[in-house]
Amino acid sequence: MARYDGPVPLAIRRFPTEDVTIGGVTIPAGETVLLSLAAAHRDPHRFTDPDRLDIGRDATGHLALGHGIHYCLGARLARLEAEIALTTLLRRFPRLALDAQLCELRWRPSMRSRGLLYLPIRY
Ligand code: HEM
Repeated sequence: MARYDGPVPLAIRRFPTEDVTIGGVTIPAGETVLLSLAAAHRDPHRFTDPDRLDIGRDATGHLALGHGIHYCLGARLARLEAEIALTTLLRRFPRLALDAQLCELRWRPSMRSRGLLYLPIRY
């Protein structure tokens, strides 16, 4: 789920301190670089059939919590919270279901954080 539609579509802005060439493109020092984690997650060279949600797939190496030196400091807390929230919700409301058409859902008007404004449910 984090790979398919994670809540953080863009990494924090980067500013190269010197010219960097990646994939034949040179990014001059001082330029603003916006890295799309969402696009990386749909890269067919990295993930087979990337537009398909398959919660059983091996999504090792996804970037939903970042990578390297700036890897999310709250990753363990975020994983724990998600596990507790989702298992508790599904245990308490086993018939939980969406109570709207997909096209009726409204999303936050933000490039930085992806999430619903509200989630109509029935249970
Ligand atoms: C589902 C929840 C979360 C997601 C998807 C998430 C995602 C991310 C991502 C993608 C980055 C890397 C950004 C980059 O490299 O540009 C990051 C960094 C960070 N996250 Fe999270 N995060 C979550 C929850 C949290 C929580 C709960 C905390 C704190 C309690 C937290 C604190 C941080 C901090 C401080 C950084 C910056 C680390 C650094 O720059 O060295 N995050 N997060």
